[in-house]
Amino acid sequence: MPSPQEILNQLKSIKYPGFSRDIVSFGLIKDIEVATAGVTVILTAASAKPEVLEEISAAVRRTVAAMPGVPAVRIELAEAPSPRMAAAALHRRPIPGIRHVIAVASGKGGVGKSTVAVNLALALQALGWRTGLMDADVYGPSVAMMVGAGAQIHVTQERRIVPLQRAGLRYISMALFIGDDAPIIWRGPMVTKLESEFLFNVEWGELDALVLDLPPGTGDAQLTITQRVALAGGVIVTTPQAIALQDVKRGVTMFQEVGVPVLGVIENMSYHLCRKCGRRHEIFAHGGGAHYASELGVPFLGELPFTHELREGADTATPLVAARPDHPVSEIFLGIASDIVARLNRSSTAP
Ligand SMILES: Nc1ncnc2c1ncn2[C@@H]1O[C@H](COP(=O)(O)OP(=O)(O)OP(=O)(O)O)[C@@H](O)[C@H]1O
Ligand SMILES: [Mg+2]
Repeated sequence: MPSPQEILNQLKSIKYPGFSRDIVSFGLIKDIEVATAGVTVILTAASAKPEVLEEISAAVRRTVAAMPGVPAVRIELAEAPSPRMAAAALHRRPIPGIRHVIAVASGKGGVGKSTVAVNLALALQALGWRTGLMDADVYGPSVAMMVGAGAQIHVTQERRIVPLQRAGLRYISMALFIGDDAPIIWRGPMVTKLESEFLFNVEWGELDALVLDLPPGTGDAQLTITQRVALAGGVIVTTPQAIALQDVKRGVTMFQEVGVPVLGVIENMSYHLCRKCGRRHEIFAHGGGAHYASELGVPFLGELPFTHELREGADTATPLVAARPDHPVSEIFLGIASDIVARLNRSSTAP
C-alpha cells in the first residue's frame, strides 16, 4: 500500500480542469487516509462547480486505483471549512482599492525576507502593476532603511496616512511612526492590533498589489494579520542554512489554516554569484527549498544567490531591481514576479 505522501505526489499529475496548475498546488486535497480496506482522499471543494468536481473526482479515483497495492478508493468531500478557517473568513477585510495583498513570511529571522519583499514589490511595479509595500515588522523595521527613510509623513484631513513614494513604489513602514522614546508602547497585543488597523488607515489609492513584509516567524502576530486582512496569497522565504522541513511547513501551515493560498517558496542565499567572474558557486547544499515545496505540495518560485550587490542595495537605499534592472538577480526577481502575476490573474478567474 502506498503512503499518503506517495499518493499526494501521484495526484500532482492531475491538472485542475482548464488550468496548467495541478490540483495539489491548488489546495484541493485536504487529506489522504490509508487503511487496509483502501484509500480515502478528502477533497476541499467548496468553490468548485459540480461538473468540475465530478471530473476531478474521477481523475483522482483513476490515478489512485492505478497505484500498486490499492484495493479500493473512496472520495470524500469536505464541504464545511474548518472552524478556524470559517472564523478567519469572517474577520477578514479587503483593503479598499487594492486588488491583491501578498504577504511575505519566513519561519526564521534574517533570511532576507525584507530584501525579497522590497525587490519583489519593485519587480511587480516593473511589470506594470501599481504596487505598494508595507513593512509590518515593528521590532526590526528595515524596509524604510532599504528604500530610504527620512521623508516627512503626511496625513490627510480625514487623518489618513499618505504613503511615501520612491521609484514609483508607494510604501509605508511602522518604523516611520516610532520615535526613539516611543518603542515601549509597542508590545504584544497592542502591536498586533495597531498593525492590522494601521493597514486600513493608509491612503493607498488604487493598487494592483500590496506587498506585506511580515515580522519574522509564524506566531500569533503573523497569524493575526493573515486573519484580519484579505490576503491573495503568501510567499515563504527560506535559506539553505535555515532550511528544515519544519521551517517551511510552519509557514505553509500558517497560510493554509486561514485559507490563504501559498503562492510559493523562495530559497534565498541559495548559492554565491561571483561579482568578478559572474559565475555561480555552490556554497551550501542548496535545493532544499524546491524539495520541501514539492513535498508540501506548494509551488517553488525560485532560488536567489548570495550577492554583494543585493546587500549594498539594501544598505544604500537603492534596491537592486530599481538601480540595476538588467542585473541577473533583478531578472530572477522579475521572473518570480511574473510567475506571481500569472498565478494571481488565474486565481481571480478560477471557478
Ligand atoms: N541574497 C542576498 N545576498 C546578499 N545579502 C543578502 C541577501 N539577502 C539578504 N541579504 C542581507 O542579509 C541581511 C538580512 O536580510 P533582511 O534584512 O532582508 O532579512 P530579514 O529576513 O528581513 O531579517 P529580519 O528577520 O531581521 O527582518 C541584510 O543585511 C541583507 O542585505
Ligand atoms: Mg526584515
